[in-house]
Amino acid sequence: MTIRPILTAPDPRLQAVSMDVETVDSDIRTLVDDMADSMYAAEGIGLAAIQIGVAKRILVIDLDQKEGKKNPIPYINPKITWASEEMAVFEEGCLSVPEIWDDVERPARIRCEYLDRDGKKQTLEADGLLATCLQHEMDHLNGVLFIDHLSRLKKNMAIKKLTKAKKLQAAG
Ligand code: NI
Repeated sequence: MTIRPILTAPDPRLQAVSMDVETVDSDIRTLVDDMADSMYAAEGIGLAAIQIGVAKRILVIDLDQKEGKKNPIPYINPKITWASEEMAVFEEGCLSVPEIWDDVERPARIRCEYLDRDGKKQTLEADGLLATCLQHEMDHLNGVLFIDHLSRLKKNMAIKKLTKAKKLQAAG
């Protein structure tokens, strides 16, 4: 088990477009395990590989974490194949955007395709928090953060706050 540090914005690496995984092998499964460990250590519900600096199209999500009962689900090369016209608003946060939360509107329901831990193709229809979480994490694979969905004013305020927090951290 390896907990890896999570990148925080602003960081140009978070804007990278991640690459498809070619083969789901033991290296990928180790990466998935490290992602899950890093996510739990940071008390998150979802993580994209780029958030630990690896530009591969992999997400890990666990929405029903209970004490001692972890069930991290990996989504490898996920693709949205359908999205509802109906929209839903959730207050989002992100391990790479610490201390900032805001409402984001996204399609309420989606269908997606992905590879599971064994490299098998799966399809999934999701709504509610899972639909939002999948879309938020898939955005990371294209270098997009949830603050990119906010108004320019709100986004600029968020980036200012994040930059200031980083300077304070660097100053120790
Ligand atoms: Ni995020």
